Amino acid sequence: MTSVGIDAIAIHAGKLKLDLAETFAPAMGDEPEKYTKGLGLHASSFPDTYEDIVTMGANAAHKLMERKGLEPEDIGRIDVATESAFDHSKPVSTYIAGCLEQVFEGDFHHANKGERKFACVAGTQSIDDAYNWIQAGRNRGRSALVIATDTALYARDDPGESTQGAGAVAMLISEDPSLVELSTEQGYGSADETDFLKPQQQFPSVDGKRSVQVYLARMREALVDYQSVAGEVHPYDIRLVPFHTPFPGMVRKAAVLGYRHMIRNTEIEDALAEEIGPQPREEAFDDDDEYLDAVREYTDALQETDRYREWYDRVVDPTLTISRHVGNWYTGSVHVARASGLMELADAGEDATGATMLVGSYGSGAQAEIHAETVQPGWKDEIEALDIDEQLESRYDLTFEEYETVHDAHNHDEERSFQEFTVPDGEFVFDGWGRMGERKYDYVE
Ligand code: CAA
Repeated sequence: MTSVGIDAIAIHAGKLKLDLAETFAPAMGDEPEKYTKGLGLHASSFPDTYEDIVTMGANAAHKLMERKGLEPEDIGRIDVATESAFDHSKPVSTYIAGCLEQVFEGDFHHANKGERKFACVAGTQSIDDAYNWIQAGRNRGRSALVIATDTALYARDDPGESTQGAGAVAMLISEDPSLVELSTEQGYGSADETDFLKPQQQFPSVDGKRSVQVYLARMREALVDYQSVAGEVHPYDIRLVPFHTPFPGMVRKAAVLGYRHMIRNTEIEDALAEEIGPQPREEAFDDDDEYLDAVREYTDALQETDRYREWYDRVVDPTLTISRHVGNWYTGSVHVARASGLMELADAGEDATGATMLVGSYGSGAQAEIHAETVQPGWKDEIEALDIDEQLESRYDLTFEEYETVHDAHNHDEERSFQEFTVPDGEFVFDGWGRMGERKYDYVE
């Protein structure tokens, strides 16, 4: 079977920053620790008034193509994953292709374009589509461009407001990839759920507490399904577990459940039994509530053990570094987690070639997907080419009043304000509306 996976990544973060501890918490009357410790978030990335899902996606794709020396004829497919689309018919990928055609010679007239929707899992689904297209031999030697782009904004005063973010991740999916190879094995956990949705509205309706439970339940199902095709997964065979990260606190909850599941009936459970006892078994309880209480108690104790903490610090924590400073990017979030984990390994000077990652994607509504990825020999050059640290450092730091203005500027129901906080430099910008209500874009040198 052909080796197919992610050949390269480029990231574009919204150019504004909302500091959650310093700026947002005091305005909301909250303790900063709710954000920094509870949710695990320090800041959100916000789009400036001239940025949107098209500009961020096009800027990421432009950077990726330039760095890899690609021309439009090298790309056979452009798939955009988003849950922030502004058109029910014309896909965002056509807008992005139009932008890229302003700066590259040639065009994308023979590339298949589409838009994928299933909340945050759509970015991973688009990678799947590209993988299948290449494995089917329909790519004529060309690569696919997958772009996950979102403005993850919530209504003002919604509990989700603290987890906002905006940014895009562009990924090149190719044969013989330089970064990671994708496994053929996948696991799914999918059910009709009403936890987070946008029925013909810009900002989501969210049942926040329920959404957390649905994430955990679907992720568990996906792991069981993955193991049914790939075999038992041993937690110490995995170097990184990038999860969909709406906020790092969510991943903290998911990771301990995954670890508990993976160590069941292993020598690790036996070793830990001396400290915290064996895992409760359902058949040993007559009452469901008593069983669930016992499982909760075991999980809390497990989370405090040195053995678990060491595993978490090595395998999960590195994937959260970027997320802490950008918030939720919906479709891009799990792909930011992958990049973050690999950046940490590169910074530590580790040779990760051949290492396995278990990637846990999730979309509300709801579906989780788990697959494995194998780090490829070219990974370090690809990861070291990312400029996300510089982007985060150069963001404009909003006051609370400025944040309110920017939120209004992106709110379709508010009078639009065109005040800009940053000066565009070598990038695509939103340039107003055309005669049929289409959005227009320009490249600013
Ligand atoms: N010091 C330390 N910790 C503190 C604290 C303090 N002073 N104050 C609060 N905390 C902790 C709380 O104990 C809590 O932690 P635990 O969950 O571990 O108990 C955490 O900080 C958050 O506090 P609250 O639960 O009180 O926060 P909230 O009521 O504002 O709601 C939320 C949190 C439900 C996640 C909300 O932000 C929300 O609705 N977010 C949007 C939905 C979401 O992201 N869901 C995640 C799963 S769905 C998904 O993943 C798809 C997607 O991308 C949206």
